Amino acid sequence: MKRVNIGLIGFGTVGSGVARALLERKSLLAKRSGIELVLKKICDKDLSRRRSVIVNKSLLTDNVNEILNDKEIDIVIELIGGIHPAKEIIIEALKKGKHVVTANKALLAEEGLGLFKLADRLNKNIYFEASVGGGIPLIKSLKEGLVANRVEAIYGIVNGTCNFILTQMSERGISFKDALAEAQKRGFAERKPTLDIEGFDSAHKLAVLTQLAFGKFVKMSDIFIEGISRISLQDIRYAAELGLVIKLLAIAKKEKDELEVRVHPTMIPRDHLLASVGGAFNAIYISADMVGDMLFYGLGAGQNPTASAVVSDLVSLAQALNGEEAYVRPFDFSQGKSIRHLRKIDQISTRFYIRFMAIDKPGIFAKISGILGKYKISIASVAQKERRRAKIVPVVIITHEALEKSMRIALEKINKLAIVKEAVAIRMEET
Ligand code: HSE
Repeated sequence: MKRVNIGLIGFGTVGSGVARALLERKSLLAKRSGIELVLKKICDKDLSRRRSVIVNKSLLTDNVNEILNDKEIDIVIELIGGIHPAKEIIIEALKKGKHVVTANKALLAEEGLGLFKLADRLNKNIYFEASVGGGIPLIKSLKEGLVANRVEAIYGIVNGTCNFILTQMSERGISFKDALAEAQKRGFAERKPTLDIEGFDSAHKLAVLTQLAFGKFVKMSDIFIEGISRISLQDIRYAAELGLVIKLLAIAKKEKDELEVRVHPTMIPRDHLLASVGGAFNAIYISADMVGDMLFYGLGAGQNPTASAVVSDLVSLAQALNGEEAYVRPFDFSQGKSIRHLRKIDQISTRFYIRFMAIDKPGIFAKISGILGKYKISIASVAQKERRRAKIVPVVIITHEALEKSMRIALEKINKLAIVKEAVAIRMEET
């Protein structure tokens, strides 16, 4: 039987899951792929930590060059995360003639273009199924299953931590802080939780999906990013009263030659498919021109789901190495060229949920609606949530579609009114 040798760099949670799968499922994988996948070396800078898998000590090293310089190793798995030294390791692996498997969404989002170009030049491949949606076979579906399609839109719940926090707040009424602490305890939050809660992790994943689905490399600075740290229990409750659910969505939409890419808390109708995605689950809703609408759902983080995606890449690469399958080129740059304009957030129109804390006295609403009217923001409904004469009360407004820029200016004006204490705006999507 043909053999493919593998070097694993990064022996943490996911790395241990990959090692266990390769060792314990060796014969299953060999039967299914026709290739013996041999885990030849594992590198980590800390070899003393306890792991969920026991491996032969002879496999272990803390010197990455033992993998990079090993001529027998065909595929390097990078699971250390972050930009440095992951980037340098991947470059070196490619230059040394190895294919690469990575789960590193931050690196692919920030440096993907250069890395993929280098891989192309060297006739090597970078596979990255585990970088978005954990165990969901999403990347393969986009690369292969949807090859005949033009993708029109993607709406993704791609950060398990944020979805877990929002679900806990809405179902159990617990505070943001407590929900985050629980997510950290369960182990799917990033080491720096701001990456999750301020939307950066979702934006990294959106950049990867945009590269694949639209053939367009977007920079992080091209993506509008707003996280969930300002979402309150109060707004979650009012949204529920209106039949709406708040989710952190990563959105990419193409219209003619324009593409918009944004990550922000979004109110969606309770009966929308994405509204029922709870806890740490991910779901990616894709509209494409031949196949129509699809929903990919599953665990977006965790040891086994992520390791499952890494092993799928290993098998695909191993089969390609043996000439049994073609390498699937991930990007259709010709499609990307048709995108001439990245729409800025100011140019986007959505409906809005707005909540003000305003003094309860006659004439207040006239002032607020006057400002909205001046900026051509049409009101669909209004509700004052409490009655406390001359005291501060919450007022909730739902608007019709309004231009983001107009809404931003109107809110600045409203926030300056002495009678208004706090104005919160959350975008809505109805797709
Ligand atoms: N912190 C990420 C999440 C891990 O919560 O989804 C998976 O990328």
